[in-house]
Amino acid sequence: MPLLSPLMRRLLAVVCGLALLLSGAPPARAEFSLPPLPYPADALEPAIDARTMEIHHDRHHGGYVAKLNAALAERPELAGLSLEELQGRARRLPEAMRNNAGGHWNHSQFWTAMAPAGEGGEPSEALLEAINGRFGSADALREQFEAAAAARFGSGWAWLILKQNGDLAVTSTANQDNPLMNLGGIERGTPLLGLDVWEHAYYLSYQNRRPDYIAAWWPLVNWSEVNRRYAEATGLSPRTPGEEH
Ligand SMILES: [Fe+2]
Repeated sequence: MPLLSPLMRRLLAVVCGLALLLSGAPPARAEFSLPPLPYPADALEPAIDARTMEIHHDRHHGGYVAKLNAALAERPELAGLSLEELQGRARRLPEAMRNNAGGHWNHSQFWTAMAPAGEGGEPSEALLEAINGRFGSADALREQFEAAAAARFGSGWAWLILKQNGDLAVTSTANQDNPLMNLGGIERGTPLLGLDVWEHAYYLSYQNRRPDYIAAWWPLVNWSEVNRRYAEATGLSPRTPGEEH
């Protein structure tokens, strides 16, 4: 009596064939993943409450990542593009993919642009020089940045960017757009600092009082990270004032 029936042998052949096919297939593209918060959810209290941070990070940002991966699964020709490359192609992306790619990039920079109050350091010597040259003072930068954040109608972001000509600028974008996107009406540049002014970022504690949220947020700025971004964008060393040359 044979060890395997004809049916079992055929099944085995199909399975072996599939295994061979799969072993020769190119590796699947790694999916984007939700980066963890770089501090506990309650680390930014009282300016931003822990519940807001949890919902914002886990559900909103997590949702953008999941929807971006789902959208990319339908567009294999875009597989392999980095998150930054997707921003640069925003004009040619379907709207849902643009929104979710923007949402993932924007929030990833947002978490690291904040630190518990008193732990974010201060602008580096080089950045401070650029701020003073462009805005007059760090206070004037804050004023312009907060005005841009307050004036953004509906949902969006306020940004401090480094333009291609080397100038700093304060700008703002709607929804999940950002200054890396090649879209009309966007002042393009390398984002150094971005503030989320969607209601989901502040509604539990501040309801409709967006200016109060913006004012409470500024002391959370992680200047060490902003300095790093500025240094990376300019090729300069991110020294802080008083640091040895
Ligand atoms: Fe958000």
